[in-house]
Amino acid sequence: MKVSMKVNGRQVSGEVEGRTLLSAFLREGQGLTGTHIGCDTSQCGACTVHVDGRQVKSCSIFAAECDGVEVTTIEGMANADGSLSAIQQAFQDHHGLQCGFCTPGMVMAAAALLKENPKPTPAEVRDHLHGNLCRCTGYHNIVKAIMAASGQDVPAMAAE
Ligand code: FES
Ligand code: FES
Repeated sequence: MKVSMKVNGRQVSGEVEGRTLLSAFLREGQGLTGTHIGCDTSQCGACTVHVDGRQVKSCSIFAAECDGVEVTTIEGMANADGSLSAIQQAFQDHHGLQCGFCTPGMVMAAAALLKENPKPTPAEVRDHLHGNLCRCTGYHNIVKAIMAASGQDVPAMAAE
């Protein structure tokens, strides 16, 4: 079947099977490999994107369900001039990544959080990230990055 959607502001379409996941459509159909696949069982959060402005694990929905939606992936998060967005810059500045595998999903989750809660507490940040796993950082620097991106003091409790 054919699906059409807007991805990072660009109208795209493609043929998919009923079982094709949105994550596969984005990676294999559109070449947007910044959306990572860590499990394909809705546990790791590496595949997180925004669908119509809502945070979604793209391995948890079928592409066919997404006809007519607007999707934002990590490739759509940079500023128009190609520079890093404030959230991405904060991850870099506060060493919120090591191997980087979880990072696209973390950035997308962080952006969704700050949209609905622009000044979260560290506890709220941690709670929001419960669906995003990182095996490298111990999460402290990710929390620091998100607190910095929200314009708040970086908490001492989230020390390196
Ligand atoms: S690949 Fe989607 S949650 Fe892990
Ligand atoms: S930075 Fe390696 S999994 Fe998070």
